[in-house]
Amino acid sequence: MFWEQAYRFGDIPWDSPKPDPTLVRAVRRGWLKPAGRALEIGSGTGTNALYLAQNGFRVVGIDVSPTAVRRAREKARAVGAACQFRVADVLRWRPSERFDVIFERGVFHSLEDEKRPIYAHSVRTLLKPGGRTLMLCFSDKEPGWGGPRRISRREIREIFAPCLRLLWIRDVNMVDTKRQKIRSYATLMEKPG
Ligand SMILES: C[S@@+](CC[C@H](N)C(=O)[O-])C[C@H]1O[C@@H](n2cnc3c(N)ncnc32)[C@H](O)[C@@H]1O
Repeated sequence: MFWEQAYRFGDIPWDSPKPDPTLVRAVRRGWLKPAGRALEIGSGTGTNALYLAQNGFRVVGIDVSPTAVRRAREKARAVGAACQFRVADVLRWRPSERFDVIFERGVFHSLEDEKRPIYAHSVRTLLKPGGRTLMLCFSDKEPGWGGPRRISRREIREIFAPCLRLLWIRDVNMVDTKRQKIRSYATLMEKPG
């Protein structure tokens, strides 16, 4: 599987050792709920999930890559964070609990077309009524051809409108391990209460 191979062979340019600056801003400015139960979809080696855990959230991170989950658990143990990590596919994972906050960075933009509506439906199912989700994806303003597909504002609106209330889409940068800035969209959405 692509993701597992990437983690095993260390080909993971997205794996910043610092929490994503847009997530940090979202927590500081109260764009997300101030605390509660949080889920990171595609949590990778856990940097962003651990940031949420260290900022008042009770966090579960899920990822399809067992190697990523193992590394995330090791990081959580090293800093003594009570953060859970599980191997799971968000398109199928249906726990009994629901979340106040869902964060994701780099999952939606990697999905094939037919999986996008299933993803939007999954996020809706996993959120509590009134819960919020912050999604970061490559934007169609990012030049060049390498890396994941670029996503337009229109695509985001069309895919998520049937499931969630869109609060805003903003231009932001994601930063990769080479400290390169990637033009991206941050999208904040809410499940109607
Ligand atoms: C671009 S990486 C970003 C990882 C992490 N969010 C970060 O910013 O470092 C995308 C992550 O999503 C995971 N992933 C991809 N499809 C997934 C799915 N259907 N369910 C759960 N995780 C998935 C991959 O294994 C990978 O760790």
